[in-house]
Amino acid sequence: MRHQALTFSNFPTLLICLLVSLFTSFESSESQNLLQRGSSLSVEDSSHVYLTSPDKTFTCGFYSLGENAYWFSIWFTNSKDTTVVWMANRERPVNGKGSKVSLQKNGDLVLKDVDGSVIWTTNTSSTGADRAELLDSGNLVLKDIDGNTLWQSFDFPTDTLLPNQPFTTRQKLVSRSGPGAFASGYFSLYFNDENVLRLIYDDPDISSVYWPNPDYDVFQNGRTKYNSSGVAVLDARGHFLSSDNLQFSALDMGGFRIKRRLTMDYDGNLRLYSLNNVTGLWIVSWLALLQQCQVHGVCGRNGICTYAPHKPKCSCPPEFEFYYQVGGSFSQDLVCHL
Ligand SMILES: *[C@@H]1O[C@H](CO)[C@@H](O)[C@H](O)[C@H]1NC(C)=O
Ligand SMILES: *[C@@H]1O[C@H](CO)[C@@H](O)[C@H](O)[C@H]1NC(C)=O
Ligand SMILES: *[C@@H]1O[C@H](CO)[C@@H](O)[C@H](O)[C@H]1NC(C)=O
Repeated sequence: MRHQALTFSNFPTLLICLLVSLFTSFESSESQNLLQRGSSLSVEDSSHVYLTSPDKTFTCGFYSLGENAYWFSIWFTNSKDTTVVWMANRERPVNGKGSKVSLQKNGDLVLKDVDGSVIWTTNTSSTGADRAELLDSGNLVLKDIDGNTLWQSFDFPTDTLLPNQPFTTRQKLVSRSGPGAFASGYFSLYFNDENVLRLIYDDPDISSVYWPNPDYDVFQNGRTKYNSSGVAVLDARGHFLSSDNLQFSALDMGGFRIKRRLTMDYDGNLRLYSLNNVTGLWIVSWLALLQQCQVHGVCGRNGICTYAPHKPKCSCPPEFEFYYQVGGSFSQDLVCHL
């Protein structure tokens, strides 16, 4: 009885608290999953105005690295480091003041820098684009008034593939240039002209395939070149299947609720990650190369990769001098020269 009485007398107070917190949360953040034709998101509002997927897994808005560098991006809302999965234009961050992304009246979704220069566009002008919508899958889509999709971010991956995002011969996953950088690096995943999925190191001077094992032919690597469909997909359970016969599963395959991503990492390895929903940290649940030293170019031009004894380490041949470019102690940032 006593317990019940307490509950009832507290009820109005609780209700007020709830209402107050609801109002303040509306005030401090305007999350929405739609951007209507004729409206825009401004970089100045990026801390509290953004798009979220209906189930809140993904957020789309301006992502910042440092004070004056912002990228129009999609990221995992609940991963500890808010992992970015897609960027409109990774090579050109915009200014922290005056930049905005707009779904223009002509149907084009356009990212403009402070001086009005166009940094990126969906090229959908003179279509009936009515709204941009962020879906639970992490796909940003432009839809017409009847709900037909006119454009989708899933067709333009950056370095990451999400579950149910088809990967085809028209696409590439390209690594970042390093930790804390978003610009394109030298490693990529792609279908070659025999429709075989490969990893390649490709700098301005050297280009070298390192996965699957370049010492074996397609069939010795367990692949086929006789399926011309050139398509691969990671399903919601954590199983990856490609038309060249490559398939693999996440260590924790099954659980439909587990959030995953397949990322072309800046160190040249391709990894499948699962999100630990308690800690917000990523767990590697599959990787292409068990031996990190098999990645070509991982120690830069002329560098030598060795295991010392468990962790891979980069060094230079005798007589070479070396230095590290900004940001690296083990990476392609090592430079060896005579
Ligand atoms: C839009 O068109 C320009 C010029 O043809 C092209 O460079 C750009 O990649 C296109 N953008 C998208 C998102 O397809
Ligand atoms: C080619 O690959 C696709 C996608 O994995 C698959 O659905 C299809 O059955 C394959 N075709 C043949 C002839 O194996
Ligand atoms: C968190 O992950 C565990 C294990 O994968 C799962 O059983 C649980 O349902 C998840 N919780 C939420 C809230 O998604």
